Amino acid sequence: PNIYLYAANNPSEGVLAKRRSGATLVSYLTPALTNSGLYKGLSDIKASVDRWRATEPGSSDLPGLEEIIREQAEAMDLDGSDVSKLAAKLYEIEQELIPQGLHVFGDAESEEARIDMLAASAQARGEIIDRDTIAKLIHGRIVPNTPVLRELANLNAALSVNHEMNGLIRALDGRYVPPVAGGDILRDPEILPTGRNIHGFDPFRLPSAFACKDGTAQAQRILDRALEDAGKLPETVAMVLWGTDNLKSEGAQVAQAMALMGAKPRFDSYNRLAGAELIPLEQLGRPRVDVLVTLSGVFRDLLPLQTKMLAEAALLASEAEEPLELNFIRKHSLSYLEEHGCDMATASLRVYSNAEGSYGANVNLLIDSGGWSDPNELADTYEKQKGYAYGVDGKPKRQPGLLASALKTVDCAYQNLESVELGITTIDQYVDTLGGISRAITRAKGGESAPVYIGDQTQGSGKVRSLQEQVALETRTRTLNPVWIEAQLKYGYEGVRQVEAAVTTTTGWSATTGQVDSWVYQRISETYVLDETMRQRIAEMNPRAAAKIANRLIEAADRNFWQPDAETMAALQAATDAIEDQLEGVAPAGSLAA
Ligand code: BEZ
Ligand code: MG
Repeated sequence: PNIYLYAANNPSEGVLAKRRSGATLVSYLTPALTNSGLYKGLSDIKASVDRWRATEPGSSDLPGLEEIIREQAEAMDLDGSDVSKLAAKLYEIEQELIPQGLHVFGDAESEEARIDMLAASAQARGEIIDRDTIAKLIHGRIVPNTPVLRELANLNAALSVNHEMNGLIRALDGRYVPPVAGGDILRDPEILPTGRNIHGFDPFRLPSAFACKDGTAQAQRILDRALEDAGKLPETVAMVLWGTDNLKSEGAQVAQAMALMGAKPRFDSYNRLAGAELIPLEQLGRPRVDVLVTLSGVFRDLLPLQTKMLAEAALLASEAEEPLELNFIRKHSLSYLEEHGCDMATASLRVYSNAEGSYGANVNLLIDSGGWSDPNELADTYEKQKGYAYGVDGKPKRQPGLLASALKTVDCAYQNLESVELGITTIDQYVDTLGGISRAITRAKGGESAPVYIGDQTQGSGKVRSLQEQVALETRTRTLNPVWIEAQLKYGYEGVRQVEAAVTTTTGWSATTGQVDSWVYQRISETYVLDETMRQRIAEMNPRAAAKIANRLIEAADRNFWQPDAETMAALQAATDAIEDQLEGVAPAGSLAA
């Protein structure tokens, strides 16, 4: 028997465990969520901004106050020249949802955590409900007389108990473990109670009608942002698709890729997905945008129908006799046809992934090992792993030349963010593929990089951020935020490892895109290494990860991702030496290299 504990929000990898080894999954909760809030210098700016708001427009206090705000903002690496814009940025930071440490298997959520979760759940739906109201709701002092309050009351009841240990014991006893579809607690509270055998969504129904409608809106958002930044519509968008995210959202990202191309899914008379069809140009109202799709290995395994559908959409668009200025897919396919002397079926290949049985771009492994010197090595690794084109027959074929041509046409790269608890600096799979392809695009375009965007789908109706904005936001709301730090450090060894993962992944974004501000490294250094108390705390909990953090910051400086002054560099070096001395005390000789 293979009994496998799995996060309730990860049905896609979970399904692989079932396929490969007939696993029985026992689901567990993801960490409780809370608002980032503001801290230290950020709270100071907010106080000044509040005063500024309360000041009469013509008041003689105003210029002095604006000067103070500019200085306070600068001290926090923010632009304070436009106070309204600064206020909006502060609000975004304050409201950002972040995970609170880790979930402990079998533990029910505390009242404090439940209040936070309920507030987060309302916020994810675009409703702000204050914590006092939620506390009253929990204690039965207000009646849940609206649909939202009723849902929150149910969520509270479901979070007050935890059945995970029961589920595990049932499985170990060889008894039946009840099934449930996996999903995200903010979106699908019916994943509760956890401790059940999770499975995925019916792949024949994906993308759903809802996902197609939403996908059209999200595709427009990315086009609007790209147009705003570049002054013209992108001809090609490189998009990364994951299995988990598509299962969770009924195929929202697949639907976005289809919408960009001006295509939609075709269903048979049993309402099962059967392929793609084009939306007429008159109805689309804009050119068909070319999409260079990269599938995760997990997507490729779980969603073969959708893989073929995307390939068919690209083929149909390539064959459509439409003006080239209204059909960038055909425009590019005709040019590949000429360049490579191939047929249209080959020239229209746009869906790339790994070879069968292979996963990941391996760019994350290179970044973690630090074993690269030229950024082109990252591009090489990416193209080698992800250079397999999947056509309408769903079969992979390595197409290095065609991929290189397609990369040249890319105007921006893009991936959605679907899980609050997994930011682009939390796990290294975003940098692996989205970062990897960005590096490959830069090389293909002779050193000219393309903007990278993140479509944050975790709150309200969604928001597009540049990669630089997203890294800055996650750094402020997580890596540097005392609320996040203390929640992680409650879990000692593993908490420090999470911090190290965030630092390493951040350097990965520098390596692949160069879009990380240097203040990010300066502040991380100050927070974890130059602060003597913090340095000792983390070194005690997990000396190896603590040493890795310090070494990584030095590596980042050596690679010119930031330029610390001599004093900072010396302090980093001294801190590394101190931690490594300590490490020699705890580890047998020779184990350091691991
Ligand atoms: C996926 O579901 O496609 C996926 C899961 C984990 C890491 C990367 C991708
Ligand atoms: Mg892994």
